[in-house]
Amino acid sequence: MTPVSQSAYSQQPWWADAVFYQIYPRSYADGNGDGTGDLIGICERLDHLVELGVDAIWISPFYRSPMADGGYDVADPCDVDPIFGTLADFDALLADAHERGLKVTIDIVPNHFSDQHVWFRQALAAAPGSPERARFIFREGRGANGDQPPNNWPSMFGGPAWTRVPDGQWYLHLFAAEQPDLDWTNPEVPAEFARILRFWLDRGVDGFRVDVAHGMAKEPGLPDMDLSVITPRDEGAHMPSAADIRFDRDAVHEYHRGFRKVLDSYPGDRMAVGEAWVPSSERMARYAAPDELNLTFNFELVVAPWSATEFRSAIDRSLHAMAAVGAPCTWVLANHDVDRTATRYGGGARGLARARAAALVQLSLPGAAYLYNGDELGLENVELPDDALQDPTWERTGHQVRGRDGERVPLPWTGTRPPYGFSTGPTSWLPMPEGWAASTVEAEAADPASTLQLYRTTLRLRHTLADLQGTALEWLDSPDGCLAYRRGGLSVWLNAGVAAVPMPACELVHASAPVGADLEPDVAVWLRS
Ligand code: NOJ
Repeated sequence: MTPVSQSAYSQQPWWADAVFYQIYPRSYADGNGDGTGDLIGICERLDHLVELGVDAIWISPFYRSPMADGGYDVADPCDVDPIFGTLADFDALLADAHERGLKVTIDIVPNHFSDQHVWFRQALAAAPGSPERARFIFREGRGANGDQPPNNWPSMFGGPAWTRVPDGQWYLHLFAAEQPDLDWTNPEVPAEFARILRFWLDRGVDGFRVDVAHGMAKEPGLPDMDLSVITPRDEGAHMPSAADIRFDRDAVHEYHRGFRKVLDSYPGDRMAVGEAWVPSSERMARYAAPDELNLTFNFELVVAPWSATEFRSAIDRSLHAMAAVGAPCTWVLANHDVDRTATRYGGGARGLARARAAALVQLSLPGAAYLYNGDELGLENVELPDDALQDPTWERTGHQVRGRDGERVPLPWTGTRPPYGFSTGPTSWLPMPEGWAASTVEAEAADPASTLQLYRTTLRLRHTLADLQGTALEWLDSPDGCLAYRRGGLSVWLNAGVAAVPMPACELVHASAPVGADLEPDVAVWLRS
């Protein structure tokens, strides 16, 4: 047994063990019947979250945006895009959520702006070498005529990370060409983001999710990279290798210390969680060092294959790395960038059984947890027709990689046909499949065996069982293929193997599936020892 103590954060602020629910706003609920989810829609469906039992929401970007990357191309970070509503709608949503006891967190996107942001328009209108261009990363090209990109970096969405402008200079974009990277060594950039943070903190938000937290600092001199270290996007979620010099440069931590100073200047435990896809737990933990972001997503369970050994080492590594910086772990199974959990575990009945079991593991680990909207219904990715695809990856890879639309299909709420109460209009921004009648919130609420009911029970127990409220975790011996740990008087067992094992002789508190004398494969249980 390996006792893990994280007593450094025993005086916990609210976020240290909170369950956050990610709302992808285009897909959660449509309040105005145009087929795209919006802020009014979220307001109308807040009670779903109260009944589910989450503590906080994270709303993906709803800012003014041409939507070249689903809103992660921000044209005005201090205003609401008309497809999502107005600032008044946001204020109403914030007030309604707070009234229900839900904390509200939102995205900030500091690595890049949209090419429609006023700064980038000014940069294009200004001359090479001007202060307007110095907010972004403009460089001369290589080759006799400067017609080769300044270095060999590829964009995360396919194609080169550089685009040439009419006067011959090139600008860097680690993502789509419509998302020019900002130059964080220019003091105007951190100052502008401090202003953006304050704008939303003054309105009353409880915190932020920091997009591409590992990308804002660039390797000095922008040298060529070793292209062999890149894993193709269609091979699933992956951590960039330590040799991928586009990310995780040491200089980035200074920028996060700046964010933290702004957060700490407000009352009420405002927080930030970093999105840092980095290759080791130790590198990940640095983003949640005492004077940096409060939390950092732990993607180890997203990339771990279905294996007790892999789960155990992912959990162990993460607990120890985070304990070393005195911050809680932040467990993640899915988000809008990776396949849905049930799909990742193989889809169908087996994928769903595993996703349900994984939820019992995720939600019994010490620390915070993030749920992705629709996972509480056990939804799978949807195979979409080519002409429906909107992820920039599809175009930028010349239709080789389909991208992330499959996990972004709107949520089914009621009824038996698309759009299942998502919208009062006839269609939705991504088509919803036939066959989701049994997966609506309405249908699952009426079915005691549904995944929705499993999540509701799991979250109720998580909040009421004192055993889960501490920070200690002890590993227990378990048969091959199984994972077992103790939290207080509760033990958690997962059978990720292929054979049934005898159920330990303990009182059954909770299970991801009906159980008998044996613990069957793909089932997790909570037991009272
Ligand atoms: C991470 C976001 O989660 C993803 O959706 C987006 O495409 C990239 N950052 C670029 O902002």
